[in-house]
Amino acid sequence: MDFFKRLFQKTPDQGAIDIGSSHVKLAVVEKKKSGPAELLYFAVAPTPPMTIKDGSILDAQTLGDTIAGLLRANNIQSQKFKLLSAVSGQQVVIRPIPMTKMKPEEVKQAIRFEAERYLPYPVADAYVTGEIISPDIGDGRQMEVLLIAVPNEILEAAREVIKMSDVEPAGIDLEPLALQRALRLFLSEEQYNGTVVLVNCGASFSSINIFSAGRLKHNRTISVAGNSFTKAIGQSLNVSFDEAEKIKKEKGVIKVDGGAEDVAPTTQKIFNLVEPVLKDFVTEVQRSIDYYRSRNKDESIDLVVLSGGTAAFKNIESYLSKEFGVECVVADPFSNLNLSKVKGMTSSELRELAPASMVVLGLALQ
Ligand SMILES: Nc1ncnc2c1ncn2[C@@H]1O[C@H](COP(=O)(O)OP(=O)(O)OP(=O)(O)O)[C@@H](O)[C@H]1O
Ligand SMILES: [Mg+2]
Repeated sequence: MDFFKRLFQKTPDQGAIDIGSSHVKLAVVEKKKSGPAELLYFAVAPTPPMTIKDGSILDAQTLGDTIAGLLRANNIQSQKFKLLSAVSGQQVVIRPIPMTKMKPEEVKQAIRFEAERYLPYPVADAYVTGEIISPDIGDGRQMEVLLIAVPNEILEAAREVIKMSDVEPAGIDLEPLALQRALRLFLSEEQYNGTVVLVNCGASFSSINIFSAGRLKHNRTISVAGNSFTKAIGQSLNVSFDEAEKIKKEKGVIKVDGGAEDVAPTTQKIFNLVEPVLKDFVTEVQRSIDYYRSRNKDESIDLVVLSGGTAAFKNIESYLSKEFGVECVVADPFSNLNLSKVKGMTSSELRELAPASMVVLGLALQ
């Protein structure tokens, strides 16, 4: 029965892929005219070793094979199927800059000249664009433009991986914009329109994004992320990376000062190992918040949302709430999706992967 249903079910034409350094995530979502969007396919595979290093793709063929494997396992074999992916990292520059007032259609040309002083690479080697985010910064002469720059090399590498998986690229999006779309899935209208700090803490990198009134206003990538915690455990206990990863996920709990719970000695020991990394993480996020507040004095931070696999670290949201003095929640993008069509995973298994699925779901919603 299931087989026939699958056979006659039309494969949708577009899906999304998030190629992380630790996991590759695939999602296909169908938007509905009314009611929640439906998640049709969702799959995750570990990223093969030595294929991505420091944010750069080293082995497009092996990554492409991994994606092709996920598509085959889910019976997605349509000739027309296309995949949308995202780029991110320290080389992707997204920042508000002041520019002399001009028409929106003139911005795209003029920004290439402006961009030079903000980019660590030549403008000629990058895709550069800009979008007016506020028509007047208050002096009557200048406006605020969101500068976006992605090195051509990064775009080409992203396209190459998709081609190696034997499907066509549907396009390339920016990770912060995908994250923003995914926020819509679980924040209230009021929360979404406030000032929200979204920290996507993956394995190699964390991106800090500040949205105000539904617009991206700040983006920064830092290297304190999941691997930093794993390395701290591995080095102190003198165990392999894989062993340390297992200890972190199974025994790691973040202790909150003043919390009532007495923790087991092993838990306390692991907490002591990860605490310095956690402190670095807090310092970096706080630095972004302070920078943003210094430029937007009339705004306060309403909410901190934590996503990425590291958001599953037990208690991390309570720790961060206390440190930042702001409500902090773990992203739950599956909460308002219809999950009944997804095969091979129970909804509780899916919910466990929720924070790590923000990017791929945001892409799939495009
Ligand atoms: N329960 C858990 N406790 C602590 N950390 C966890 C837990 N579950 C997953 N992680 C961590 O989440 C990270 C993976 O998250 P994610 O899938 O978002 O990364 P990625 O997108 O592959 O990496 P990146 O974007 O940095 O290239 C790993 O470092 C993993 O150890
Ligand atoms: Mg990631």
